[in-house]
Amino acid sequence: MSDRILNAELKNKVVSAEEAAQHVNNGDNVGMSGFTGAGYPKALPTAIGEKAKAAHAAGEDFKINVFTGASTADDADGVLAEAEAINFRSPYNSDRGLRNQFNSGEAFYSDVHLSHLGQQVQQGFFGDMQVAILECTKINEDGTIVPSSAVGNNVEFAAAADKIILEVNSWQSLDLEGMHDVYVPELLWDRTPIQINRIGDRIGNTFHTIDLDKVVAVVETDRPDRNTPFKEPDEISKQIAANFLQFLEDEVAAGRLTYDNYIMQSGVGNVPNAVMAGLLDSKFENITAYTEVIQDGMLDLIDAGKMTMASATSFSLSPEAAERMNAKADFYRKHIILRPQAISNHPEVIRRVGLIASNGLIEADIYGNVNSTNVTGVKVMNGIGGSGDFTRNAYISSFVTPSVAKGGDISAIVPFASHIDHTEHDAMVFVTEYGYADLRGLAPRQRAERMISIAHPDYRPLLEEYVEAAKKVGGHTPHDLTQAFEFHNRFNSTGSMKK
Ligand code: COA
Repeated sequence: MSDRILNAELKNKVVSAEEAAQHVNNGDNVGMSGFTGAGYPKALPTAIGEKAKAAHAAGEDFKINVFTGASTADDADGVLAEAEAINFRSPYNSDRGLRNQFNSGEAFYSDVHLSHLGQQVQQGFFGDMQVAILECTKINEDGTIVPSSAVGNNVEFAAAADKIILEVNSWQSLDLEGMHDVYVPELLWDRTPIQINRIGDRIGNTFHTIDLDKVVAVVETDRPDRNTPFKEPDEISKQIAANFLQFLEDEVAAGRLTYDNYIMQSGVGNVPNAVMAGLLDSKFENITAYTEVIQDGMLDLIDAGKMTMASATSFSLSPEAAERMNAKADFYRKHIILRPQAISNHPEVIRRVGLIASNGLIEADIYGNVNSTNVTGVKVMNGIGGSGDFTRNAYISSFVTPSVAKGGDISAIVPFASHIDHTEHDAMVFVTEYGYADLRGLAPRQRAERMISIAHPDYRPLLEEYVEAAKKVGGHTPHDLTQAFEFHNRFNSTGSMKK
């Protein structure tokens, strides 16, 4: 048995994943640790999937409702989707199989802001929670637990659930201990301010205190996090990153930013990695991050002495960077704090510290409304994630995107966003490979001109044509509703938004 379980009472509860899965029943609300492929349980989902398959083979119903921090991996959402074991899912998913089930109506998905879900679960918005399954690095002698590579919604799930199952994962570095800052806000209506004034402020504990009487099983694993291989940024990503960095430089020139006051929030992916690579050679120093995930590029910035502190709720690393983290966690924990997602994404703190948010999008319209979630307005991609938490509350909110998707058949700039996650009131700056459009201080008619200037050249005449037609209809925000979705309709009927 692992020497990571130091509490005698919990040591006695060690069982196999299959035995632990007996505590999960058809119809249960199940809260799982895990965020962006890190810190999710790795043994129980497979065992629950097998249990579901056996039940289905016997003609019995077996589906559960799964709540997490954010996305998990093939060995969590993937195996449960494959076993058709999920009835309802929240708050974020990137598993393709499960996405197909949402879009076909076989499973339900509720797309909730990541900072909201924990509270909503705890307040019973989804009914009672029967089981919480939490991965941890270690169980201390007193029964407190050291979280692993994500904190996510662990605090709220453990508080809400009737039963807790712990997965102690020996793949996770023991040196993660000390990196976490587990802060538990008071319940409504007795809240006090979140006392994070600087990115590196610690306000909680390095461990998570749970009710030991709720623990029904402890399972041991040694499986790695998802750790998606790193893709070298392509030319377009590098150009978008260069334009984003130019925007930062222009903010410095305008006196609205200084070289040692850049506080980063960044979505994951190719463009953010290219931005971080660009920052390595930039004039920006003492960079900090108040964000939700720690990515490869942030480790590089920390290694180079460019980034002093990063606050997040989880890692989202490549296999190489995950190994680097495991080998050097004692060093990184001086520069990284992992907090519950209710705190990493807390509007109060985001507004106070003055960060610059930067996220991806599906499409934006000529006035600056943003669709982050639903392709052609109907098919969900991943979910809003933390983009709403950050976009609404950032000092400057930006979106970075290639000007086209699917080989040029889809324009990222459209006349009217077919689904709106972030309104024109929240989104400020848009960046494509053709430059950046700063919409701050502009009226809708002025905004359209800027947005079209960063669209792909193939789509600029079509967008201009639309604006002319819309102006004939008139209004403060001109639209011709008979044509507003012509890009989408054309794509649906011909496979391309081009005429
Ligand atoms: N229509 C159809 N598909 C589109 C599209 C559009 N308008 N825009 C992008 N896509 C597709 C891409 O083709 C790609 O598909 P593939 O996986 O089949 O190749 C996929 O979406 C990802 O696009 P990509 O250009 O690689 O950008 P990305 O990895 O940055 O993802 C989002 C873009 C919008 C899907 C992603 O940023 C997201 O899920 N955002 C919402 C949550 C969020 O912002 N999280 C960060 C918050 S802290």
